Amino acid sequence: MDLAKYGPWALIVGGSEGAGAAFARKLASDGFKLVLTARKTGPLEDLAAELRGQGAEVRTLSADLKQLDVLDQVRKITDDIEVGLLVFHAGANDTRGNFVELPREVTQGVIQITVVGQSDFARHYGGLMCQRRRGGMILCGSLSSYMGAASLAAYTAAKAYSRIFSEALWSECGAFGVDVLHLNVGFTGTPAMARLGMDISQAQSPDDLAQEGLDNIANGPVWIAGGEANWERARQRSVIDNRREAIEKFATPPRDVMEEKE
Ligand SMILES: NC(=O)c1ccc[n+]([C@@H]2O[C@H](COP(=O)([O-])OP(=O)(O)OC[C@H]3O[C@@H](n4cnc5c(N)ncnc54)[C@H](OP(=O)(O)O)[C@@H]3O)[C@@H](O)[C@H]2O)c1
Repeated sequence: MDLAKYGPWALIVGGSEGAGAAFARKLASDGFKLVLTARKTGPLEDLAAELRGQGAEVRTLSADLKQLDVLDQVRKITDDIEVGLLVFHAGANDTRGNFVELPREVTQGVIQITVVGQSDFARHYGGLMCQRRRGGMILCGSLSSYMGAASLAAYTAAKAYSRIFSEALWSECGAFGVDVLHLNVGFTGTPAMARLGMDISQAQSPDDLAQEGLDNIANGPVWIAGGEANWERARQRSVIDNRREAIEKFATPPRDVMEEKE
């Protein structure tokens, strides 16, 4: 990764485990200094110690992206440094259910992280990058963004926002020499998925996902990770005609239906 273009500091939002940790390890080995955020202090501090042991400068912050002042919290440890790369990685879904039945705080949390959070972080750090006329942003999303799915209404809609937002931002920031990539994530074997009890043996590895993201930062606006099968899934979910039939055929099934199929 080009340190002169995207350095000297990389901020990884959701940078404690899974692909977030893989981004951190790869960037540290390329000489980047790192700011890592997540909620759980254990994995965050373990990773920071590992990277410091290899000579990297690392700052950490335990903060919940659902908090309204989270950007202010992160700014307290970044206002004195130059963040040339933002990786906004956090935002998986852990609660499924009908939108009208889920507690408002659950669905609002999804919107707060992926819609409000990505927008606020991109505005602040992207704005500074555009002033400097260099830098890059990788905003992580999901294959689910191509189609609304039962039990995932807020998640699929928030991820669609992230993808479309990234496309517009790519166009705007590109004029200032700043790369924007929407990294569209498919099934990946992260600790978050393992904690949900999912069989991750066939999933893409977090390491490969992070490498795909870094390799394609200049190939925006959207990069669908995980190979041709995922590009095909995105095509199937993107049809304009016969939307009803397409949703019945291709939408991510509710988890209880998935479990019945297994
Ligand atoms: N894994 C998949 O199969 C899959 C599929 C499609 C899309 N994606 C996308 O890929 C991204 C990463 O997913 P993931 O599976 O690694 O799980 P994740 O739950 O998003 O966790 C990734 C990182 O974000 C942190 N994080 C999660 N929620 C947070 C919060 N509320 N506040 C602050 N930090 C938070 C986690 O640490 P803490 O838990 O300690 O906070 C971890 O470091 C997400 O955007 C997700 O939508 C994943």
